[in-house]
Amino acid sequence: MLSSLALSAVPLLLAGLQAATVGAVPTISAVGSKFFYENGTQYYLKGIAYQLTPNDPLIDTAQCKRDIVRMSELGANAIRVYHVDPNADHKGCMTAFADAGIYLFVDLDTFTTQIEQTSPHWNETQLDRFKEVLDEFQQFDNTAGVFVGNEVLTTANGSHAAPYVLAAARDIKAYRNQKGYREIPVGYSAADIADLRPMLQNYLACSKNESERLDFYSLNAYEWCGQSSYEVSGYNMLQKNATDYPIPIFFSETGCNTPAPRTFDDQDSIFGSKMSGTWSGAIIYEWIEETNDYGLINYGPSVSAATNTIVEDGFTRQGTPTPVSPDFANLKSHWATLNPTGVVLSIYKKETGSISAVECPAYTSGAWEVDPSSPLPTLGQTYKEESSKGASTASGKGSTASGGGGATSSSTKNAASAAGVHGSSAPAHLLTISMVLSAGVGALALWL
Ligand SMILES: *[C@@H]1O[C@H](CO)[C@@H](O)[C@H](O)[C@H]1NC(C)=O
Ligand SMILES: *[C@@H]1O[C@H](CO)[C@@H](O)[C@H](O)[C@H]1NC(C)=O
Ligand SMILES: *[C@@H]1O[C@H](CO)[C@@H](O)[C@H](O)[C@H]1NC(C)=O
Ligand SMILES: *[C@@H]1O[C@H](CO)[C@@H](O)[C@H](O)[C@H]1NC(C)=O
Ligand SMILES: *[C@@H]1O[C@H](CO)[C@@H](O)[C@H](O)[C@H]1NC(C)=O
Repeated sequence: MLSSLALSAVPLLLAGLQAATVGAVPTISAVGSKFFYENGTQYYLKGIAYQLTPNDPLIDTAQCKRDIVRMSELGANAIRVYHVDPNADHKGCMTAFADAGIYLFVDLDTFTTQIEQTSPHWNETQLDRFKEVLDEFQQFDNTAGVFVGNEVLTTANGSHAAPYVLAAARDIKAYRNQKGYREIPVGYSAADIADLRPMLQNYLACSKNESERLDFYSLNAYEWCGQSSYEVSGYNMLQKNATDYPIPIFFSETGCNTPAPRTFDDQDSIFGSKMSGTWSGAIIYEWIEETNDYGLINYGPSVSAATNTIVEDGFTRQGTPTPVSPDFANLKSHWATLNPTGVVLSIYKKETGSISAVECPAYTSGAWEVDPSSPLPTLGQTYKEESSKGASTASGKGSTASGGGGATSSSTKNAASAAGVHGSSAPAHLLTISMVLSAGVGALALWL
């Protein structure tokens, strides 16, 4: 079953040939199931979802700097931004974040180019937009990852959209490599739909062809609310499904807000002994306090848009950040105590001479309707089915729509512990992963 040796070190060589980049900060690479700094120390995300303004929060350098002071106080080392304008100048903000050791995970799509669950398609217009964002942000050493989609699949019957997510990842990875860009990890941010677990997660990482799988997977999960525990929240099931996952996995949104105040006790589990060997950390939803009430800080009292141009939905989106109490302090005190050392890259290499790859989920009518042996959609392809008039709408995203609170989260958090998963339980055959390390910069894993 094992294919013959066919390694390529070309991407590694190209990685060393980049034009001068901005920001004196070590880059992050995905190796096997973990992220590493250049010095071989494992990188765990302590992240914040940061979307002050709908179009792009990374163009107002003074504002970035004011926010960075408070983010550093929290102990953050990552932000997630859902929407950027690839034609704007991001040097000021990106350099300021780099100086603070804060990395960016950025979504490549817009409302008009995002991959849709209903009548899914993947075309040149979408790819061009994704390319523009990558072109802009690849120049910054503190760009740590990009998302090809956020919550594209939001219902149990949404599996037909999964190949389109993967087609986007395939094409943006090919573009990244063709341009000779650094191997910035390409991933996906999933809605927490118990019925799709573990099929979606495994499908996106199971290809034996590295060009046709994600570099990382992440989950928007609001399962842990108030007084809860590893078992009661369902995190034990998340861990069960992710154990031995072959690529990095982390929480791309978390932080249930009912009941208030938020205690962020889940962070102890994520960064603790049960999960930190599998998970690479968490991004807290979100920085700014707005209607959905997930903010860690605010910029003053709600005001009318008529009096201030940087007000939207009644919330001021610029100024001096003031911590929301006690939530901000609660998160800060958790993160201050949570510093898993993880594994050192050189040791990880030796320990993981072989890792078992995940099995591709089998086609299962009514549960996971994707044949793992069919080729991925080509650029320009649209999914066709007789009765594709489903009324389900694609998920919203960004500062007001994503997040927590939506129907997705509340419905799935209750279902989590009782999820019916219909994936096949075919015996896993093991594939060997070989770690191939470059001389200096970075490293990557290849399936043999
Ligand atoms: C490696 O680099 C990171 C980021 O700069 C730093 O936090 C860590 O302490 C370094 N590890 C070692 C062993 O020097
Ligand atoms: C691709 O799809 C988008 C909608 O997602 C549409 O606006 C655009 O016109 C399509 N482009 C092509 C080339 O078909
Ligand atoms: C791997 O996938 C890429 C992108 O789809 C394709 O061009 C290449 O031929 C595939 N390689 C193998 C060995 O199948
Ligand atoms: C995955 O998690 C679900 C609950 O969401 C659980 O029912 C199932 O047994 C788990 N599957 C595996 C393979 O761990
Ligand atoms: C998928 O399920 C949703 C409800 O979760 C429903 O509204 C929609 O019609 C279904 N779509 C199809 C194609 O069955």
